[in-house]
Amino acid sequence: MKSLDSLTPSQIVSELDKYIIGQTNAKKAVAIALRNRWRRMKSDDSIRDDIMPNNIILIGPTGVGKTEIARRLAKLAKAPFIKVEATKYTEVGYVGRDVESIIRDLTDLSITMVKTEMQERVKDKAAENVEERILDLLIPPLKKTTGFAGSTSQNRLNAANTDSGFDPNQATDEELNERTREKFREKLRNGDLEERMVELDVRQGGTTNMQIFGPAGMEELGMNIQDMLGNLAPKKTKKKSVKIKDARTLLLAEEAEKLVDQEAAVQEALERVQTSGIVFIDEIDKVAGGTSGNGQGGPDVSRQGVQRDLLPIVEGSSVSTKYGMVKTDHILFVASGAFHVSKPSDLIPELQGRFPIRVEMDSLNEEDFYNILTVPKNALTKQYEAMLASEGVELSFNDEAIREVAKLAAEVNASVENIGARRLHTILSTILEELLFLVPDEIREGKVLVDKAYVTKQIGEIVRNRDLSQYIL
Ligand SMILES: Nc1ncnc2c1ncn2[C@@H]1O[C@H](COP(=O)(O)OP(=O)(O)OP(=O)(O)O)[C@@H](O)[C@H]1O
Ligand SMILES: [Mg+2]
Repeated sequence: MKSLDSLTPSQIVSELDKYIIGQTNAKKAVAIALRNRWRRMKSDDSIRDDIMPNNIILIGPTGVGKTEIARRLAKLAKAPFIKVEATKYTEVGYVGRDVESIIRDLTDLSITMVKTEMQERVKDKAAENVEERILDLLIPPLKKTTGFAGSTSQNRLNAANTDSGFDPNQATDEELNERTREKFREKLRNGDLEERMVELDVRQGGTTNMQIFGPAGMEELGMNIQDMLGNLAPKKTKKKSVKIKDARTLLLAEEAEKLVDQEAAVQEALERVQTSGIVFIDEIDKVAGGTSGNGQGGPDVSRQGVQRDLLPIVEGSSVSTKYGMVKTDHILFVASGAFHVSKPSDLIPELQGRFPIRVEMDSLNEEDFYNILTVPKNALTKQYEAMLASEGVELSFNDEAIREVAKLAAEVNASVENIGARRLHTILSTILEELLFLVPDEIREGKVLVDKAYVTKQIGEIVRNRDLSQYIL
């Protein structure tokens, strides 16, 4: 496959097709938005900074793939991605999270992402270092000093005890040490020492154990206090006995971190957030004041306040994070909502203008369900097959059974409530409940075929009974 960031719009759509059924319009819109970023990066300096991202509003009922499309897109683009619910945020000054924290969280994600990538690149070197460190724990290296006085007390003791003509000079000590070391290295590589205990200095997390809450709406300040104290508090370490196999994991993380240039990681992470970050804002319709007026939820003022606070971020502003300022101008925002009661035009006008692209998602039918169960690499049926394979049970579904599940899902969606593809989750888990319970106590190994009769036996009754469906499916 071509390098991912140079995928053309139609290639992006076909990548998305591997996971998401239908929704062609939405796929096209996000594909264009992604490609436009690439186009922007390649365009002339003089105009580059003026080219704005194509923020999108996805409109559609629940469970039709809105979140899934955005999530897949981010994976494809290897972009930092965060999903937030608009309703979770409050206007600055009110108790709750302010919207700028979205950008701070996204930056944290980007940092983790970049560091993980960088650590991946140095992992061989890190593994080598870890081997040395474990050997150091098993056979402490000799102190590099000259003469007899430099020998370890153990050796001196040996020399004294033997009292023969043997003169344990420095060279022999080193040789001995080196030879034992190589012997242990071999054992280590053969996996003979995995269960052996070693004593390790384990870092006591300075900042991680400590939570400091800043005053309401001033997360920024709270965060800085935390950082300050984190640096002031002495880095504590504690001796801990662990098995070598566990020590390896601990040390590997430590060594990998040492090998990564932290400064460069931060720079790259900031760059990546600014040029390719994706923010997915769910339930945007719930903060659209509109005609809903059902008296529930916060007062309209606060919702409008959230929209107003979102504005500068979506429009492009600088948000201060603990790693430095992050400019939001080129972050892609994808908003989504069902818009049952409110309409996109109920959003404050400035915000509407910032989401120029509107895409209606289709609701899913029986045929779509059938495809959702069979086409994606990670289809639900394949997930269950993989899970049971871990128990030695070979689960399979025949075509008729899958057709039946798709049909039932569509039926229940029509008769009870339309929850889109999520219905497949509830239906499949009900069909397989008995099996999942019996493995491995009563069903150990072997093949289990789910056919139409099996499906009917497990849920036929429930589907026919509307009351039951409401509770179970
Ligand atoms: N078109 C689709 N193709 C494949 N899988 C889908 C599709 N639509 C939904 N799904 C699956 O259904 C589940 C719910 O989808 P998703 O989270 O995208 O819903 P949503 O549209 O964001 O709903 P909500 O409005 O409730 O947030 C996911 O597991 C997803 O994989
Ligand atoms: Mg969603």
